[in-house]
Amino acid sequence: MQFTPKQKIADIVLHDYLLIPVIERFGIRMGFGDKSVEQLCAEYAVDVDFFLAIVNSFHDSESFPENSSQSISIEMTVDYLHKSHLYYNQYKIPKIEHLISQLEWEVDHEKNLKLISNFFEKYRNEINNHTLKEETEVYPYAVEIEKEYHKSGISPRLIELIEHYSVSEYARNHDDIDEKLLDLKNIILKYLPPAKNQDIVNDLLVELFILEKELSDHTRIENKILIPKLKTLEKNLRKIIKTKPINF
Ligand SMILES: [Fe+2]
Ligand SMILES: [Fe+2]
Repeated sequence: MQFTPKQKIADIVLHDYLLIPVIERFGIRMGFGDKSVEQLCAEYAVDVDFFLAIVNSFHDSESFPENSSQSISIEMTVDYLHKSHLYYNQYKIPKIEHLISQLEWEVDHEKNLKLISNFFEKYRNEINNHTLKEETEVYPYAVEIEKEYHKSGISPRLIELIEHYSVSEYARNHDDIDEKLLDLKNIILKYLPPAKNQDIVNDLLVELFILEKELSDHTRIENKILIPKLKTLEKNLRKIIKTKPINF
């Protein structure tokens, strides 16, 4: 199912509640009333096409807007991705850690808790490092190169940027950060003995499933929108640099 500009945002959330934090990332707050996507996007100065591309691809990964991605701005994409990083690092991961800290077993409590805590700690560090690299290197480069591209003329700054960085390198080393969550789910589902407080285990599993979906959606946006968009920009700029004089 594809959501459309005329659809009410409240109905979209009723159809797929996992979209609540996705919509929040656009700055669109609850109290939607009966307003449609296009009405609320206009009110919050959000690009409707971008909003629908993100919401629809989150709801149904098959509906990814391969062809329209070139019309989406890098700045908008990076803003969305940055807010997603904040959400994982400042809210989701601490919430999962809190649930882990509440787990209790009748037998081998310390051993089981240590196993799961250590695993998640390593995973958290992996996510922190991954997002930090993107926040400090990739995203600032992406935004700056787009800004420079829209200025008239080729500045020395732009040449410097292109010479010192290439999105291909990022694309080559861009790992999926959701894969280890499957291992963690398996540890809980298959190997650990039943906990005393099974309700907490259930909550923890639900959070892990949600984070896994969130992260795979996030990586898809980086791989299918950000990277192709940057590759095209770099290609065009390299062509211009070869044929045009530098604008000092
Ligand atoms: Fe990211
Ligand atoms: Fe990433």
